[in-house]
Amino acid sequence: MSSSFHILLLFCSILFLLSPSNANSKTLSSFKPKALVLPIIKDSNTSQYITYVNQRTPLVPVKYTLDLGGQFPWVDTDIGYVSSTYKPAHCGSAQCSIAPTVRCGDCSSTQSPGCNNKTCRVLPDNTIDLRIMNSGEVAIDILSIQSTDGSNPTKLVTFSNFVFGCGSSILQMLDNLANDVKGMVGLGRLRMGLPSQFSSAFNFPKKFAICLSPSTTSNGVVFFGNSPYVFHPGNIDISQKLTYTPLLRNLFITASFPFSKLFPSSEYFIGVKSIKINGNIVPLNTSLLKIDNKGIGGTKISTVNPYTVLEPSIYKSFIEVFAKQLGKDFTKVAPIAPFGLCYNSKSLGTGTGIGMGCVPPIDLVLQNEDVVWRILGENSMVKVSNEVVCLGFVVATAREESGPRMTSIIIGGHQLEDNLLQFDLDSNRLGFSSSLLLKQTTCSNFNFTSN
Ligand SMILES: *[C@@H]1O[C@H](CO)[C@@H](O)[C@H](O)[C@H]1NC(C)=O
Ligand SMILES: *[C@@H]1O[C@H](CO)[C@@H](O)[C@H](O)[C@H]1NC(C)=O
Ligand SMILES: *[C@@H]1O[C@H](CO)[C@@H](O)[C@H](O)[C@H]1NC(C)=O
Ligand SMILES: *[C@@H]1O[C@H](CO)[C@@H](O)[C@H](O)[C@H]1NC(C)=O
Repeated sequence: MSSSFHILLLFCSILFLLSPSNANSKTLSSFKPKALVLPIIKDSNTSQYITYVNQRTPLVPVKYTLDLGGQFPWVDTDIGYVSSTYKPAHCGSAQCSIAPTVRCGDCSSTQSPGCNNKTCRVLPDNTIDLRIMNSGEVAIDILSIQSTDGSNPTKLVTFSNFVFGCGSSILQMLDNLANDVKGMVGLGRLRMGLPSQFSSAFNFPKKFAICLSPSTTSNGVVFFGNSPYVFHPGNIDISQKLTYTPLLRNLFITASFPFSKLFPSSEYFIGVKSIKINGNIVPLNTSLLKIDNKGIGGTKISTVNPYTVLEPSIYKSFIEVFAKQLGKDFTKVAPIAPFGLCYNSKSLGTGTGIGMGCVPPIDLVLQNEDVVWRILGENSMVKVSNEVVCLGFVVATAREESGPRMTSIIIGGHQLEDNLLQFDLDSNRLGFSSSLLLKQTTCSNFNFTSN
């Protein structure tokens, strides 16, 4: 029995050796992933959320900064782009039709990745730096990514039509990105956004979820496609524990340089109706919470802002109410930039860590009074030093105010950590878990070990 088994195995491997490409394409076409998964890690220097994507031929891991609302993935093709499968997207091609093309162009220098004739051009932007914007060609290459059953990574999947924009390090497009980062992964709403590309290639729902870890040493996770989203201990499926609110559209560009053509925003907006701290409403001008007819105002979610940014009048009122609700037993200290309200950490609890219960909860009230995104201590407070803890919200600076369109509330990274957020673009809704710590798990508890 065992010897015939061996013979069978040998026979199979010979068959495999004889027609490797045939066998490979068969496995590929018969395997339909239900979901894909990418690990995300927080960079300690910059607080950016970083991912590595294996791509090109031969495959290399390329380091990217995650940009939740980014228009599309873009990568520096000026330095060190080597790949035998690089293809420029020629004007009129299917790839150009999904791109927010600004023009069709030629390139006068030597032909190379990023420099080809008759290619469609897009405007990749560094949404962290916001100073440089230049048009680059749209290109196609191979990407390799792990599929998942929701509990563990499963087979590696090859995506041979990964469409991206070419950025330029010569034009300093990589300024202020973390060390060795070569571009940004845009998960925004556009058809060239990574979620739409994956869902059309693999025929799964236009849906993705992010779960960012505050740790700079263990991975958070992004899921593309179908749930479950299983976290240990206890194999808890977070997709069953979500609260939903509509995702709103903003018809004007909101993240990058203003430019002549009007593209709709690729970012994700939600409808915050009021803010409560410890159940007390924060007095504010409610028209700031609506997206007006020029695209100004409202609330968006961003992974490129490390802390939630508030419009100045909202910020002033917000920190007043928070200080009042926290009470007089806590010792205020001189604020440490970028924060405006800081305390002696010894006065907050026992001096170790930030207890979830010891600071007033902050509620973002959504479509009605019962739908609330609750922000507790771990997400509201930031430990700046051993002595000082600050309220982790910041006032909009000239940078935000001079952007193309001011958004009144930009929910940033610190407030998103250890919360799972599901963006369902088919039904236009956001599913949010609130703090996973209340469910005895964290975003770093997805099991990245393959079966
Ligand atoms: C683009 O076309 C022009 C004119 O035919 C040619 O001189 C140039 O070398 C071409 N550029 C590339 C990158 O192929
Ligand atoms: C942090 O920045 C320093 C100085 O730029 C650099 O040497 C170091 O490698 C960076 N660390 C990480 C984790 O990127
Ligand atoms: C409220 O905000 C809107 C939008 O910025 C502004 O036009 C209006 O004057 C503000 N109202 C008050 C009372 O400040
Ligand atoms: C992670 O998955 C591997 C493979 O299925 C399994 O052996 C291991 O016990 C899992 N770890 C945890 C902490 O659940």
